[in-house]
Amino acid sequence: MTKALIELECFEPAGTKLEFSREDLLGHSLALGGSGSGKTSRFVLPMVRELIHSPERIGLIILDTKADGQMSAAVRRAAIEAGREKDLIVIDGSGERTLDIFGDCANFGIDGVDTLTSLLGSLIPRDSKNLYWEQTFEALLRQALRLMVLQERPQLDYSALIGQLIRYLLLHRLQEPYYKEQVERLKTQRAHQPPPIQCIYDEVTATHRMWDTLDVRTRSNLQSMTASLTGPLNSPLAHAYFSGGESCSVADKTDRGQILLISIDGIRHAKVARLVACVAKGRFYEAVLRRERDVARPLAGLVLDDWPTAITGGWGNLYSDIEALAMIRSRGGFLVTSAQSLSAIDSIVGVADRRAALANFANLIFFRGRDPEVDLIASNYLGDYKDRLIDTSHHELPKKMGIVTYPVRHEREIRVPAVPIGALARLATGEAYALVGAQAYPQALCLIPHNPVY
Ligand SMILES: Nc1ncnc2c1ncn2[C@@H]1O[C@H](COP(=O)(O)OP(=O)(O)OP(=O)(O)O)[C@@H](O)[C@H]1O
Ligand SMILES: [Mg+2]
Repeated sequence: MTKALIELECFEPAGTKLEFSREDLLGHSLALGGSGSGKTSRFVLPMVRELIHSPERIGLIILDTKADGQMSAAVRRAAIEAGREKDLIVIDGSGERTLDIFGDCANFGIDGVDTLTSLLGSLIPRDSKNLYWEQTFEALLRQALRLMVLQERPQLDYSALIGQLIRYLLLHRLQEPYYKEQVERLKTQRAHQPPPIQCIYDEVTATHRMWDTLDVRTRSNLQSMTASLTGPLNSPLAHAYFSGGESCSVADKTDRGQILLISIDGIRHAKVARLVACVAKGRFYEAVLRRERDVARPLAGLVLDDWPTAITGGWGNLYSDIEALAMIRSRGGFLVTSAQSLSAIDSIVGVADRRAALANFANLIFFRGRDPEVDLIASNYLGDYKDRLIDTSHHELPKKMGIVTYPVRHEREIRVPAVPIGALARLATGEAYALVGAQAYPQALCLIPHNPVY
């Protein structure tokens, strides 16, 4: 077996460790289990501690969408113990530090627009029956942002971004002089551009014309899609995470091997937490995918205690978990996450997308839970063991003098599932079965919580 990079110790069976090699870690890890089954205290937090202590300096983006103090205390403590306090950067909505939604605001141009469009597009609720609307909306969003950056002296900050989305997409007034003037200016600028850029100018102008001439019903559909974005983007809490303060780039922290902790209360502010988490996650995927393929490159990990908060489905979008998780492993990127049930994920991205995203996880940790599909997965993948089936039959014939009728004993070798359906529901808090790469742990492990003096 390859050398373990991460070892999570267990109370039971004594001396057992849940081990992850570098390769295993790159297979992505998901803990599944009901509320209070031990996912955070027995898996995610010990994993974070180990990742921070790892001799290989791992760049970490940690999304704490509970913001109850547990994750931040664990991260701070581990960073101090590992002598990495200087590597730790915290964004918690206090305004001191904020996330750079533009990726790199100073160099935000046409390429940046494409990236930001896909990133914002990944936040729109997905449905396979809605593909036409999603794609039209993304095209419109792209042109709205292009119109903004192609101006001679574009104002590029968070407020300007929201202003453009609200004014151009949400409130769109036909023939608005402000935009008519901007589009006219583009026509003059176009003449001084190389041909590929001229095409972009043409597209912006054509889309502007189309947007003006759409029928009212089509336009109002697209406007309501805009509202689902601008609502969370324009909330005071979102401003506290994206504007003002010292702007931090997720890509920069990932590349430098630092630890970026982003805390936001996803229970009280679910939509803004999803927005913040998806932006940070998207920027992480992008940073990892920009790297060269190199087996020796330092690892970069994303820790997301509650996967449903930031799960993204869909195809043809780099920020979809289906696509990104399949690609980041070859560039040294990995995800550690948890979820209470698969049904919760289904209600966000649909069954097909959830199944596709789930197929990217080589490591599954099964805590106590009553999700029938998780039962099936555990039962199928954790294998079986040999057992003996003994069958004894007694004769019911009337006893005859001098004749003894012995019971007949049949013995058969059978295979029984190591984790039969229903076994997960009977686990105690902190107990789990696990599958790490090709290694199955078919006997329940009792994992040690991150802080035994709780
Ligand atoms: N260090 C610890 N020592 C002992 N028990 C703990 C410790 N930390 C948490 N617990 C308890 O363990 C149980 C599991 O908590 P945990 O937060 O890990 O569950 P969870 O699976 O993450 O739940 P949720 O899905 O609601 O986040 C809870 O009852 C909690 O009070
Ligand atoms: Mg938890």
